[in-house]
Amino acid sequence: MRQPLVIANWKMHGKGAFNEALVTDFLTALKEHRAECVLCPPFAYLGQLSELLGASDVMLGAQDCSHIDQGAYTGEVSAEMLKDIGCQWVIVGHSERRQYHQESDGLVAAKLGMAQRAGLVPVLCVGETQEQREAGQAESVVKAQLLGALSDLPDLNGLAIAYEPVWAIGTGLTASPAQAQDMHAFIRDVVRDLDAGNADTLRLLYGGSVKAANAAELFAQSDIDGALVGGASLDAKAFAAIVGAA
Ligand code: PGA
Repeated sequence: MRQPLVIANWKMHGKGAFNEALVTDFLTALKEHRAECVLCPPFAYLGQLSELLGASDVMLGAQDCSHIDQGAYTGEVSAEMLKDIGCQWVIVGHSERRQYHQESDGLVAAKLGMAQRAGLVPVLCVGETQEQREAGQAESVVKAQLLGALSDLPDLNGLAIAYEPVWAIGTGLTASPAQAQDMHAFIRDVVRDLDAGNADTLRLLYGGSVKAANAAELFAQSDIDGALVGGASLDAKAFAAIVGAA
């Protein structure tokens, strides 16, 4: 039985007072929940959130980490530093990083390795664009991203994978539950070929315009184990409802 997992990706949003109200309201709105829950604010606010989350069972994650452990790399933040300040999770290979920062599968693989070595749980993001889906390439694109990132990892234990179709991110378009389930089942099969022992325990999250209104039908699919939530995670009540639905 896989424990549901819901992760908030704040992206480049937030400010001191806003964050304080959001986290406080979220913790108040969060009822009994079966899902594990992780908040990923921008680097600048990790320390603030670590304090705000205090003794709650909500965990802290970062949105990215460096592919290098240390050195003269201005602007980079290492996985070990994230671990050192209390992060347990890190998102790797988000499509916005692939698109705006030209992150290749090789770079994503190096980041995954760094995250695992530092003791962080990496959340690998994969997903196709609209053009790729229309050209019938959705599965081949996702498979190439998975193989490119995972083939050299010694162990897939503890990793999570988020399927985020690029056309559904921040657009209000959501993959239908059936479309998402089909791709999740496909991803689990690809993982099974790489690491049969971990394929059934590995958690697969859906991401792309997840809201309180569509979360339950997505989570009802057998291979959807939770969500990576952008926009709706900036609304305390909406995000608490999504965690509650998982
Ligand atoms: P969205 O973002 O929920 O705003 O579509 C999801 C993501 O990019 O992780």
